[in-house]
Amino acid sequence: MISFLASVGHRFRSAESGFARSQASRAAGNSIRSRACRPPATLFQNLMKQSPFAKCMLGLSELLDHARVRKLKATLHHCGKNVTLHLPIIIEGAQYVTIGENTTIAPFVHIWGHGNVFIGVNCMIASHCAITSVTHDYTVAPMIGKTTSAPIRIGNDVWIGAHCTVLPGVAIGDGAVVGAGSIVTKDIPAWSVAYGVPAVVKKMRIVAG
Ligand SMILES: CC(C)(COP(=O)(O)OP(=O)(O)OC[C@H]1O[C@@H](n2cnc3c(N)ncnc32)[C@H](O)[C@@H]1OP(=O)(O)O)[C@@H](O)C(=O)NCCC(=O)NCCS
Repeated sequence: MISFLASVGHRFRSAESGFARSQASRAAGNSIRSRACRPPATLFQNLMKQSPFAKCMLGLSELLDHARVRKLKATLHHCGKNVTLHLPIIIEGAQYVTIGENTTIAPFVHIWGHGNVFIGVNCMIASHCAITSVTHDYTVAPMIGKTTSAPIRIGNDVWIGAHCTVLPGVAIGDGAVVGAGSIVTKDIPAWSVAYGVPAVVKKMRIVAG
């Protein structure tokens, strides 16, 4: 442990002096990027790769992630084979959520499942999507805790781009593409390419072969 800390200190000092050197060379108009002027995150990552202690910690965190994914899958209403969940993902009301075989869900996706969410097979849900089958009833006051819900159905072979929101009661047909940053307020027909706020069909998907 002591030798590890010593090596970290040594590397940090070399990086500091390297950084000073790179500043000087930059001032001299030298555009070659020095290894030592890498941002601290990269230096830290390199140190992490080299230390046996750090390797062990990384292995442990991977094991924990595997366990978290297994637990999350087990809480779903149904989870098909070969589903990939890239943490962090939040699935509220997981017992009302179905995810079909081979579907991949990227990090930072948030699903509110209490009104039932069905996601088909071979789907891709890109990062930062919000899929909500629940909304607040703003006709009552206070509206906190007062919710209404409607099921969401996402067909097979659907690709939902990054940063999309899918609202309650919406159905997205088989083979549809939803462009990045879209808000899906109404049904999207099968094999269409839709995007925008709100998402509207722009064209049909042409499949080769
Ligand atoms: C929807 C999408 C698949 C369309 O791809 P495409 O058919 O190649 O579309 P194009 O790039 O030819 O764009 C056509 C027009 O639509 C616009 N457009 C494309 N995607 C858009 C989107 N998501 N939102 C708003 N406008 C969009 C383009 O600006 C272009 O407009 P113009 O004709 O006025 O120039 C793609 O743009 C997209 O959003 N992909 C998602 C990427 C993603 O989220 N990746 C995460 C990792 S999987």
